[in-house]
Amino acid sequence: MDMNIAVRNEIYEHAKQWVYEAGELIRQKINDPMTIETKAHAKDLVTTVDKETEYFLAENIRKTYPDHLLFSEEGYGDDVTSLDGTVWIVDPIDGTMNFVQQRRNFAISIGIFHQGIGEIGFVYDVMADVLYSAKRNEGAYKNDEKLSPLKQDLNLEEAVLGLNHKWLCENSVIDEKVVQQLVEKARGARAYGSAALKLAYVSEGIVDGYLTMNLAPWDIAGGMILANEVGAVTTNLSGGEVNMLKNDCSLTCHPAIQNEIIQDFLVKGLK
Ligand code: IPD
Ligand code: CA
Ligand code: CA
Repeated sequence: MDMNIAVRNEIYEHAKQWVYEAGELIRQKINDPMTIETKAHAKDLVTTVDKETEYFLAENIRKTYPDHLLFSEEGYGDDVTSLDGTVWIVDPIDGTMNFVQQRRNFAISIGIFHQGIGEIGFVYDVMADVLYSAKRNEGAYKNDEKLSPLKQDLNLEEAVLGLNHKWLCENSVIDEKVVQQLVEKARGARAYGSAALKLAYVSEGIVDGYLTMNLAPWDIAGGMILANEVGAVTTNLSGGEVNMLKNDCSLTCHPAIQNEIIQDFLVKGLK
């Protein structure tokens, strides 16, 4: 059953308030010395601020919506095995390396799903104080400005793609030479260090396609919902549905370049 609109509006307002409060807490701590740990590998960073931010969001969600589930990165979430019911998919800081190294260019990302459908999305660029938000079928916003639907036509030759360096180096997913050809055909490529921000840029129409390699659902959930609202499409690398319960690869892009990117490049290079 669809999420009731009044209920959705209330959830949206609560989530928006918590995102702003969490952002303010991060800004207050931005120059404090921070404890940095590594997780899966030496470049997979987590700080006390990531954990405190997730804890703050988890406490608010649980207190207000005890029947909702939380699927999140830093350990305060539930053991989520399906998207039945209402599920908050949360990354408290997406772009932790940017947070640590640059003290900017990171975001709080939240996607709220109901019965498997993305209903509400937030990506908050904390240091710039820019909130991207969306409700399904009501458009996407950058602060109070409604974002325009993507323009009708686009050629790959005019497109700016977002992807990180892993795509262009030898990797286990795809032949990097095929990705090099894709990047050469496009107008340009950008790497920002935050999946959530890149997806927000797709919704703003300043990045035309974004490739993710083995990212977690919380990296992309909020941004995918935003991008969908302006007409961008998200699939896995062969054009199928992205798995929102496990790590997966994805392409979010302008629909006019989707087929060409998948058929002429990605499927040819997949290992
Ligand atoms: C990372 C960012 C980054 C992506 C990494 C992710 P984190 O998330 O989204 O853009 O390339 O693979 O892990 O760890 O900063 O939340
Ligand atoms: Ca992340
Ligand atoms: Ca994170």
